[in-house]
Amino acid sequence: MTETGTTGGQRQTWTSNRGFILAAIGSAVGLGNIWRFPGVAYDSGGGAFLIPYLIALVTAGLPILFLDYAIGQRFRGSAPLALRRLWRKAEVIGWFQTMLLFIISVYYAAVIAWALSYFYFSFGNKWGSDTASFFVDDYLQASEPGISSELVAGVAWPLALVWVAIIIVLALGIAGGVEKVNVIGIPLLVLGFGALVIRAVTLPGAADGLNALFTPDWGELGNLNVWIAAYSQIFFSMSIAFGIMIAYSSFQRRRSNMTSSGLVVGFANSSFEILAGIGVFSALGFLAHQEGVGVADLEGLTGPILSFVTFPAVISEMPGSALFGALFFGSLVIAGFTSLVSLVVGVSVAIQEKFGLSQRVAAVVVGVVCAVVSFGLFATTTGLFALDTVDMFANNIGVVSSAIAMCVAVVWFARKGDLLRLHLNSVSTFELGKWWLPLIGVFAPVFLLVMMIQKIVDVINNGYEGYPDWYINLFGWGTVALAVIGAIVGTAISWRGRDDPAFRPWPSVDFLEGQKR
Ligand code: PFF
Repeated sequence: MTETGTTGGQRQTWTSNRGFILAAIGSAVGLGNIWRFPGVAYDSGGGAFLIPYLIALVTAGLPILFLDYAIGQRFRGSAPLALRRLWRKAEVIGWFQTMLLFIISVYYAAVIAWALSYFYFSFGNKWGSDTASFFVDDYLQASEPGISSELVAGVAWPLALVWVAIIIVLALGIAGGVEKVNVIGIPLLVLGFGALVIRAVTLPGAADGLNALFTPDWGELGNLNVWIAAYSQIFFSMSIAFGIMIAYSSFQRRRSNMTSSGLVVGFANSSFEILAGIGVFSALGFLAHQEGVGVADLEGLTGPILSFVTFPAVISEMPGSALFGALFFGSLVIAGFTSLVSLVVGVSVAIQEKFGLSQRVAAVVVGVVCAVVSFGLFATTTGLFALDTVDMFANNIGVVSSAIAMCVAVVWFARKGDLLRLHLNSVSTFELGKWWLPLIGVFAPVFLLVMMIQKIVDVINNGYEGYPDWYINLFGWGTVALAVIGAIVGTAISWRGRDDPAFRPWPSVDFLEGQKR
């Protein structure tokens, strides 16, 4: 299915609204839900985390998801093109978002590669009894935080496989590649992960794990870091303010019901996240039970270590462990892959439009560049530390500033907030009231700004994870600087693709003004 109205004349569309919803869920449900959420939640006060998390979902997650949808569907382009059509000067925000997508995709692919290896290791618990030293020393061959050009074969091979698969899917196009992967992948994921969670909650000790996750520690609510973690988890998890939801909704047909789809996607994502929390914490309760300790006494409950060190230890303790391991790592691979597809699509469509390339050429060029960087930084012996640092800076600082900039640009500079609201209401059954405007125009930006400043001060004063300063400067601040420079360069390059002069947003402004309510 195609339609006119963008660069190069014909724009592809999803084959149906269902296709869009599945692809959007595929983007949202990813490593963030299974690999990141339980660790972040545990780190940030366990049960207490659910409250800021749910508040973040309602006050920023859903409202900004709707904003992304409105921009994409109305202005029909990747983030740089759509934001440029909204307000010429906002193109730079689009390139900033595209840079973040690029940066995240290169480390995200590495985690999928690890999960692929671990899927294979599950058959026979190849990680042995000391899962920590297996992961860090034997598998990753991790050295000190630093720079290394030594490739680790065990990571490089699965990583190559991931990138080849990504390039093929992208080259097949939106309906033929991206939509198909999600239509097959998402039901498979729900079945596989559902089975895993059912098994996990029936393990001895599961209740203790669930208590650790759900018992609120109200005192933690006064800790600003917990709020920052909640908001950045929501952005990462819902894939919002990265430009990818703009790109995905630019392939929606013009009359598609957007806000209702957004509610489905948002709640599906958070349900999956909480389901993952239940599964992972039940399994942790089981581990604590086997070891005769409390859940709080377990070590290695944060970041990548949770999935790749602690979880294998759980799996080894279980009867029928190969199946459980395969379900867990298989779920990580599928969930991760459908999200990685979206990360790279965001970059590739932006490049395609700016340079007037064909979709295939853009897919191959972008895929190869991402793959090379991904190999160079994350398939080497220093990959683990680089990944941890880049992830922290890209999400706690990068995407939060992207969200602030986008909200402020739309509402205060372009003054298109109300128009976008009317646009969404004209095609959707769930109508947004006036309350949406202060949320995206005032509350979200102010709150996010306060949080971000606090985080920056914290990192400047206390560093991060005890890494040396030069390392934080290079991989942490360097990540942010790279995104800023990329944004400026991307904007400065002149458009070789046609920014179709005949493009008219639909419905027309006059029509929307007439419908005002
Ligand atoms: N939402 C994905 C996850 O939860 O793992 C990650 C992600 C995908 C972030 C796409 C950003 C993005 F644009």
